[in-house]
Amino acid sequence: MKVVCLSGDGIGPEVMRQALRALETLPLALELEERPFGGPGIRETGDPLPPATLEACRGADAVLLAAVGSPEFERAAVRPEQGLLRIRRELGVFANLRPVRAPGVDLIIVRELSGGLYYGLKGRRDDGTAFDTCEYHPLQIERIARTAFELALGRRREVTVADKYGVLETSRLWREVADEVATGYPNVKLEYMLVDNAAMQLVRDPGRFDVLLTENTFGDILSDVAAVATGGVGLAPSASLSADGPGIFEPVHGSAPDIAGQGIANPAGMLRSAALLLGHGLGRAAEAGLLNEAVDDALRSTPTADLGGTATTADFGDAVVAFLRANAVQVS
Ligand code: NAD
Ligand code: IPM
Ligand code: MN
Repeated sequence: MKVVCLSGDGIGPEVMRQALRALETLPLALELEERPFGGPGIRETGDPLPPATLEACRGADAVLLAAVGSPEFERAAVRPEQGLLRIRRELGVFANLRPVRAPGVDLIIVRELSGGLYYGLKGRRDDGTAFDTCEYHPLQIERIARTAFELALGRRREVTVADKYGVLETSRLWREVADEVATGYPNVKLEYMLVDNAAMQLVRDPGRFDVLLTENTFGDILSDVAAVATGGVGLAPSASLSADGPGIFEPVHGSAPDIAGQGIANPAGMLRSAALLLGHGLGRAAEAGLLNEAVDDALRSTPTADLGGTATTADFGDAVVAFLRANAVQVS
């Protein structure tokens, strides 16, 4: 089983290091291959997604990605984030699943990842105006809606679509298509909620949501909001899945330039993304479960600074590795 690892920028390599240690500790025959991506890709080849990196990802069973983005490239024409958008598009990962769990909270954000503002027409007009267009084809909405309804069947059977109906034509299309898809799932309750209200409800009462389905930009923002319910963005994992092909498993957080290089980043979101990789990407549910238990244990015993503790990134990783060593026999 081959996993291509893309560390990227800022705290990316710091949290990736701990994920690699954990994966190497598990009794699995994994081939872990690191490749330049983001800032390192630009520095080495001028391209945030070097062709050799993309080819390696295509040939892998799964891709583990940490974070990209750096103040160094903020105003540059070629930026690390462009590599992230391209690899998502190239691998066809349209479904970004962002589970949010805490006592009394068990929701999953289903973020559409292949359309909307991120991939619409962008440009400048002669008068200096800049534009980014938000576009969705019905088929793009239908496939992500099916993903959400299928997930709901194995959960509490409630789908909430967050949108800006009344203002956006794309939201009106989302409702038409979601209504249509819902007819195939009579046992799943469908509700619509305006996205500004959804952000507020996520803060006020996150436990009320089961499956939260939304378009690309809204999903990006709502997932950072929802992460607060679990202790912060440093704990939030995600899985970006395609119809076939390898998925990309990536934490919700970014490269955190404000704390990069200090060895204090929380690697929990990265480690939980590695657990999603084991479960969804490699079909190793037992190992995924064990890794999540190890992270839960480390969160209790070895909290990092974002959680009010004093542990370093490496301390957290040590606790995870120790837990895995002590319990790995159960899954081997
Ligand atoms: P960010 O998620 O990097 O950081 C936001 C805040 O959360 C910061 O205060 C940071 O210190 C904190 N934080 C984030 N992850 C943490 C962790 N694991 N442990 C402890 N604290 C953590 O968002 P930002 O600062 O808005 O963006 C920084 C850069 O990251 C930008 O260039 C942006 O484009 C990029 N970014 C990349 C991804 C990705 O690669 N998937 C995601 C989000 C942002
Ligand atoms: C995320 C990130 C990315 C996104 C950025 C870095 C392009 O914020 O994965 O949440 O907006 O998709
Ligand atoms: Mn984001």
